[in-house]
Amino acid sequence: MRFEHVLVVGAGQMGGGIAQVVAASGRRVSLHDAAPGAVDRGLETMRKSLAKLAEKGGGEPDEVLARVRPVDDLVTADLMVEAVIEDAAVKEDVFRSADRILPPEAILASNTSSIPITSLAAATRRPDRVIGMHFFNPVPVLKLVEVVRGRETSDETAEAITELARELGKTPAVANDFPGFVSNRILMPYINEAVYALQDGVAKVEAIDTIAKLGFAHPMGPLALADLIGLDTCVAIMKVLENGLGDDRYAPAPLLENYVEQGNLGRKSGKGFYTY
Ligand code: 3HC
Repeated sequence: MRFEHVLVVGAGQMGGGIAQVVAASGRRVSLHDAAPGAVDRGLETMRKSLAKLAEKGGGEPDEVLARVRPVDDLVTADLMVEAVIEDAAVKEDVFRSADRILPPEAILASNTSSIPITSLAAATRRPDRVIGMHFFNPVPVLKLVEVVRGRETSDETAEAITELARELGKTPAVANDFPGFVSNRILMPYINEAVYALQDGVAKVEAIDTIAKLGFAHPMGPLALADLIGLDTCVAIMKVLENGLGDDRYAPAPLLENYVEQGNLGRKSGKGFYTY
């Protein structure tokens, strides 16, 4: 088995989900988060998710959790998957530190949804072994991994990560390093337009989501999905598209920014377009 020991940095909804699927594949995981209590919360979310999956014949939750070791700092491993906040400076710091700590042959991957892989690679001395490994929320359920090649990512790195995604039970799809890659270049303008429809009074929240759910056979409407992703994350990704593609049609809808300014971030804060 390749990548027997994986360091996951960030224990939020994405990092926790990634740690879970990696541990469920039989690999050892070291899980680090700089925020106090974050790893414990991540482990609790994992426990609930594993219990749901066990009801459907998934692995024994305790056995999977036993493979996840909380660590206070970055540690050596065969692969790092970084899933900290969508802030380029914070991510670059993680990559700079990981480059010092992990052996030179290790691959450094980022779950970023919008930050250029090439700029994360530039913080290291191994740009050929830096890559995007973009999972989708909820990670234990959704089958896609968007594999993002930076300018200097080697074929060998891309193949190793594509193969790992398959071994985690996911379907990989390869994209190049453009703002928002493929997934968020499509998804975020769709969500943003739904917010404009709400802002313009075209329809109420429930009607907008019902139209998308039943009209396009989506599992959830765009406003419920925005709440799941986090409205702050949606704003951050729209800004990356706006700046990166140099087109103000990607500017976040003012109503979306208002929600964020008021601290209504979606599910994680208990209130967004819906109340939780
Ligand atoms: N862990 C394990 N199982 C879970 C789970 C979790 N975290 N969340 C849901 N499930 C299971 C449930 O137990 C249920 O199983 P069952 O069918 O056997 O009973 C099944 O998944 C469906 O869940 P629910 O019945 O609770 O509700 P739904 O049918 O509405 O499914 C959903 C929930 C899976 C979230 C579905 O609505 C969905 O797929 N929504 C779209 C999510 C999406 O688009 N995500 C992508 C976001 S974009 C992103 O992440 C990228 C970033 O860059 C922004």
